[in-house]
Amino acid sequence: MRDEFLEPTPVSDHEEVDEVGLRPRRLSEFVGQRELKEHLSIVLEAAKMRGQAADHLLLAGPPGLGKTSMAGIVATEMGVHMHITSGPALERAGDLAAILTKLEDGDVLFIDEIHRLSRTVEEILYPAMEDFQLDIVVGKGPAASSIRLSLPNFTLVGATTRTGMITGPLRDRFGLVARLDYYADDELESIVRRAAGILKVQVSAEGAWEIARRSRGTPRIANRLLRRVRDFAEVRGDGTVTEATAREGLRVFGVDERGLDKVDRAILGAICKQFGGGPVGLSTLAISVGEQPETVEDMYEPFLIQQGMLARTPRGRIAMPIAYQHIGMAVPTVDRPAVLFD
Ligand SMILES: Nc1ncnc2c1ncn2[C@@H]1O[C@H](COP(=O)(O)OP(=O)(O)OP(=O)(O)O)[C@@H](O)[C@H]1O
Ligand SMILES: [Mg+2]
Repeated sequence: MRDEFLEPTPVSDHEEVDEVGLRPRRLSEFVGQRELKEHLSIVLEAAKMRGQAADHLLLAGPPGLGKTSMAGIVATEMGVHMHITSGPALERAGDLAAILTKLEDGDVLFIDEIHRLSRTVEEILYPAMEDFQLDIVVGKGPAASSIRLSLPNFTLVGATTRTGMITGPLRDRFGLVARLDYYADDELESIVRRAAGILKVQVSAEGAWEIARRSRGTPRIANRLLRRVRDFAEVRGDGTVTEATAREGLRVFGVDERGLDKVDRAILGAICKQFGGGPVGLSTLAISVGEQPETVEDMYEPFLIQQGMLARTPRGRIAMPIAYQHIGMAVPTVDRPAVLFD
């Protein structure tokens, strides 16, 4: 067993230090996602028994649900190193080759945002995943020849916020494809309590619950809200987080009853008021709330859709009745969805 599991993570500010410190390290510390944990524990145990690298794993789901944490856990549980990179960082075939040749037997290679891999890089990845072979082209033009290198057996863990953008051939090469779902409020409560323990913040049961239920089903948001409420409790109170401090702190930071923040409400407001309930195209919507289309699509929309406030139609985004109610507008009587899904 080696004891150095993670590549040093670049750390720029406090929040990131906290985020790294709050990451669960073992499968047993990872709250929720029962089915995924069960599948993984079997796959990892079997691989250990055979003395092999674990099968390749693809993790899909909205940001902040624990994909990176899970990749780290696979490495820790297998007792191997994790090498971290991402789709956009691997511009050329050589970038991937350089990483692959550094791997040791059994190591985990984590590729974040794997849906953003370029075609050429993806093609190098196929034989590497399947046969642990690396094909390198040396020379140019007619004199070019290809050499084949054997790679150590490794486990590829891919993470993506967009399953739809993963090509079929890539997806098929993963032994396990898992979708992470939004967390239930009681799971988020455990996550808040765990984080409070690590951050040494005193939180009452009601305080933890208040933060959990406004965290949009997302552990990263739960941890972030806890830190904001902790700041608030330290400055305006005695440092302990009660239900009252949590409520007041969240109000000050613009997090409403359902856990929506300013941008969420701006999105709903734009569709309901400016665009008459929609349909409105993603880029128009993004511009009107001052965010990038990808940010709106990956970070904000999934939860609003899951909450039944927003719907995606072929012609654009539309607001659902709950959206109007939430921003305090009367629900229009026109039966929009029925007309739009024709
Ligand atoms: N199941 C969990 N149990 C406890 N804490 C969790 C869990 N999942 C996530 N977290 C916390 O949430 C934070 C974000 O998780 P992580 O970075 O793994 O998410 P991610 O899915 O990789 O997000 P992104 O798509 O933005 O990269 C972690 O620092 C960790 O503290
Ligand atoms: Mg991540």
